[in-house]
Amino acid sequence: MIGRINHIAIVVPDIDVAAAKWRDMLGADIGVPNILEDHGVRIVFIHSVNGQVELMEPYGKKSPISGFLQRNPDGGLHHICYEVNDIGLARRSLETKGARMLGDGVVKTGAHGNPVLFLQPKDFNGVLIELEQVKADGTE
Ligand code: CO
Repeated sequence: MIGRINHIAIVVPDIDVAAAKWRDMLGADIGVPNILEDHGVRIVFIHSVNGQVELMEPYGKKSPISGFLQRNPDGGLHHICYEVNDIGLARRSLETKGARMLGDGVVKTGAHGNPVLFLQPKDFNGVLIELEQVKADGTE
């Protein structure tokens, strides 16, 4: 079901500080920061040849990652995003196999404007997995 790893997301206290460090110390290729109001985060993508790292900081009063940052004040690994061809099919298949979705399990729009779903981390060894539907030609 799962295809390429699309991105690995890291929660940080301040994406501008973190992105500058990735750029200046690691020579990383940094994208343009973006606010995802619906998700309560401000993000920036760091591009590499075989995938992306997404830096996220809380945005707004009730950001879903505020609690994570309280537990991990320096930040930390938050989720891994895999690409799928058909998110509806993936969801039905996962439900049949007893997997649980985060929240109401409704497909939402993710950072690339594509449909996304998050799986219950308790079912996957404490790791939050995001599924993102990408077009068949691999474009975002
Ligand atoms: Co993500």
